[in-house]
Amino acid sequence: MAELLKAKPVVKEIYTQLVHDITRLRRHPVLEIILIGDNAAAEWYVSNLIKNGTKYGIDVKLRQISYTIDQTELENLIRECNQDAGIDGIMLQKPLPDHLDEQVINSLIKPEKDVDGFHPLNLGKLVLEQPSLLPCTPQAVIALLKFYKIETAGKHIVILGRSNIVGKPLGLLLLGKAEPGNATVTICHSRTTDLALYTRQADILIAAIGKPEFVKAGMIKKNAVIIDVGTNLITDVNGTDKYVGDVDAEAVINLASALSPVPGGVGSVTTALLLANVVKAAFLKTKK
Ligand SMILES: NC(=O)c1ccc[n+]([C@@H]2O[C@H](COP(=O)([O-])OP(=O)(O)OC[C@H]3O[C@@H](n4cnc5c(N)ncnc54)[C@H](OP(=O)(O)O)[C@@H]3O)[C@@H](O)[C@H]2O)c1
Repeated sequence: MAELLKAKPVVKEIYTQLVHDITRLRRHPVLEIILIGDNAAAEWYVSNLIKNGTKYGIDVKLRQISYTIDQTELENLIRECNQDAGIDGIMLQKPLPDHLDEQVINSLIKPEKDVDGFHPLNLGKLVLEQPSLLPCTPQAVIALLKFYKIETAGKHIVILGRSNIVGKPLGLLLLGKAEPGNATVTICHSRTTDLALYTRQADILIAAIGKPEFVKAGMIKKNAVIIDVGTNLITDVNGTDKYVGDVDAEAVINLASALSPVPGGVGSVTTALLLANVVKAAFLKTKK
């Protein structure tokens, strides 16, 4: 049966380091969250950030903005946050409503306050393997692999999904020369023909496609490590709402050597690393 790669001990380690770093900083870092509209999943994620941020010494300010905000108003709000010396990190909750241009907004947030790591400069530094504020979900996968001492060098890692926030940056991190990295990486997407041909070759399979329980037993190699990034809200046969991953955990649990659970896996580590990025941003400001 697969070892479960649970977030709990990883998160504990991240928060211990975070508290230590805040003590060295000698002030409370400030995170400004901009939340547009009233999406229940987004509100749940943000409430977790506020709860954990407050618990560990980060001042989290929430600006909940109406869905009707237009592009110019949002750009002006970002400029205001950029200029506010009291704000260390800016997090704009995604996805944005369709009438707002996400790429333009990502480029407008000051790179040193960009705790999501989506600014082109930060993504460029990731390509060049230079220190930067890294996107949190790819970092969370790396943190899980590192904590559970899963060897990546020389392994074939197959990633399902090529989004700018998960698949692509994660592929670059695993391809990089820092450990865990040095892997041979294949990234698959919705236009990949014969997906199982690739997934069955994976020593480590990472699923980030947003399709509930898509990965079945027949798609994996025996003893593969499976990291499930997917977070999908479904209603089960009893009419209960629950979160499931992109992997059919029940189907693969006896075949894989390790599996990250959903919930209690990548998602929880992501929250902790977003807060860690706020502390990193506060140090970047202090160094100026
Ligand atoms: N745990 C966390 O912290 C965290 C954070 C972010 C996201 N997530 C979850 O991770 C999942 C992916 O998120 P995302 O933002 O990356 O999603 P996204 O932007 O919608 O991208 C999904 C990717 O999956 C690919 N894809 C979709 N269906 C596929 C299929 N049948 N076969 C192969 N590839 C397929 C798409 O291909 P194309 O490019 O060809 O369309 C796309 O590249 C979601 O469940 C999301 O909730 C979790």
